[in-house]
Amino acid sequence: MAELEARPGAEQWVPAAAGVDELRLAAPQCRGCELWRDATQVVFSRGRASASMMLVGEQPGDREDLEGEPFVGPAGRVLADAVDAAGIPREGIYLTNAVKHFRFERRGKRRIHEKPAVGHIVACHPWLEAEFEAVDPSIVVALGATAARAVLGRPVRIGQLRGKVLLPDAAGSASALPAPILVTTHPSALLRIEDADDRAAAFTALVDDLRTAASAAV
Ligand code: URA
Ligand code: SF4
Repeated sequence: MAELEARPGAEQWVPAAAGVDELRLAAPQCRGCELWRDATQVVFSRGRASASMMLVGEQPGDREDLEGEPFVGPAGRVLADAVDAAGIPREGIYLTNAVKHFRFERRGKRRIHEKPAVGHIVACHPWLEAEFEAVDPSIVVALGATAARAVLGRPVRIGQLRGKVLLPDAAGSASALPAPILVTTHPSALLRIEDADDRAAAFTALVDDLRTAASAAV
């Protein structure tokens, strides 16, 4: 019960019919769930509202939490390399996360990333919806299972859906989607692959998926 009371959801903090700048200004006030309490700051998004491709990640990591910008850490570097390799101009991309505060567990001095719970994804969803409206992307790319769950509103197996362009009507989503969706792996999954050949193959697959998404965006 206490858990439920701690998560009213972000809705009351999200300004109606707001542009991206207005959303960014409002986000630090959000108390939609308890994650704001231990995080350094909210990490909202990066990129222009005019972008045609929206990339949705999971949640900010340690570096992002400290810097207040999404995808500035190791996973962000992999993602930027993949975007470049796919030949997608960075100005054409809007980067955000399913959950806007860093969830972690303290171990001594270290902060260990902890996956957001479904309750956090649901609580934070009003921000993502407001971003869909403000950016009105031509394609949404969900990076990993958390993002896919947030975007589609249902549990998703990446292996079954990855790399396919899902049209809004056919995506089986619980709510209306703004654009076709493409689900792919999260760039941090690549960082965990030890074998260099396997990692290179996973990178190529991510680049291929981003290319597919870019060609669906026109
Ligand atoms: N991983 C994410 O999903 N998002 C970030 O912003 C950084 C790492
Ligand atoms: Fe609000 Fe999302 Fe942060 Fe929770 S994680 S406080 S819902 S912005």
